[in-house]
Amino acid sequence: MATMTTLPSGGSTLNIKSRIGMPEFFGTSEASNIYSSAEHLTGPVATPLLEHAGLNQDIKTPIEVLDLACGTGVVSAHLHQILKEHNTQELVKLTCADLSDSQIAHVRRRMQENGWPNTEAVVVDASQSSLPSDNYDVVIIGMALMLIPDSRGAVKECYRMLKPNGCFAVSLWHIEGWIYDVRDALSNLPGSPPWPQDSDELISAWAMGPWHNVRFVKATFQAAGFFCYIFRAFMRCVTDDYWTPEQRAQCMPLIEPALKDFFNKKYGLGQPFTVERTAIMASGRKPAK
Ligand SMILES: C[S@@+](CC[C@H](N)C(=O)[O-])C[C@H]1O[C@@H](n2cnc3c(N)ncnc32)[C@H](O)[C@@H]1O
Repeated sequence: MATMTTLPSGGSTLNIKSRIGMPEFFGTSEASNIYSSAEHLTGPVATPLLEHAGLNQDIKTPIEVLDLACGTGVVSAHLHQILKEHNTQELVKLTCADLSDSQIAHVRRRMQENGWPNTEAVVVDASQSSLPSDNYDVVIIGMALMLIPDSRGAVKECYRMLKPNGCFAVSLWHIEGWIYDVRDALSNLPGSPPWPQDSDELISAWAMGPWHNVRFVKATFQAAGFFCYIFRAFMRCVTDDYWTPEQRAQCMPLIEPALKDFFNKKYGLGQPFTVERTAIMASGRKPAK
């Protein structure tokens, strides 16, 4: 059974280079800095994911939640906010897990600064996890499954780690609507270096499989054993994959001024504008024994 809705717009010691999607990037402190400063972009898709996982409701009994490939912890931060509002923080044991030491160090600082109770942060490879079987009521992967090299292995691992009847919920980019303006803004860079022309091409350039395709998501979940419910709801990777070192040296410093110039001309100096980003929210439930 599948239902669809559309959400508008919305350790390093583990051989990090070969096992983290977008090699090297997520292992660096730069990734934590970029991701934490981009939470105005990643935050809006965190709450729908938590709703989709059933974690926005009043929780009545103790549960264990795994925020896998947690990055800088944006989904966990939204979860704690919801739990705090419902006065249920004590009922949830939360594990934040990521393969990147630097992301986990960031989450640990955040845990301390915000006094998150019952929360731990661990370095874990999602596709080969050391975390226990049949243990979690909910496993969440926010905007990361498509970046995990062995993403099918990660789905199977989530099935293993969930308790019977446990819920697996993920968010994935479906349409990156900003690509069109950015493509046009950069079309006059010297030497016309190549750039993805549409959302499918952009996502395919960095995703580890067609995770923006709802049919693929559903089939992969079902193949791993889940009852499946699907809800349909950056640019450095492009320059790394599409440009030569010479093009990077020449054109990287020109990107920001070109974008500013294009947006100011198209939308008016300092004027707000909107771009579409559509996310898939998918969840599956492990069968009850
Ligand atoms: C785009 S960030 C998403 C972070 C966060 N969940 C969010 O919603 O913004 C992707 C994260 O996946 C992590 N990652 C990539 N491959 C991984 C793997 N094999 N196991 C665990 N985490 C992985 C990266 O380190 C990075 O922090």
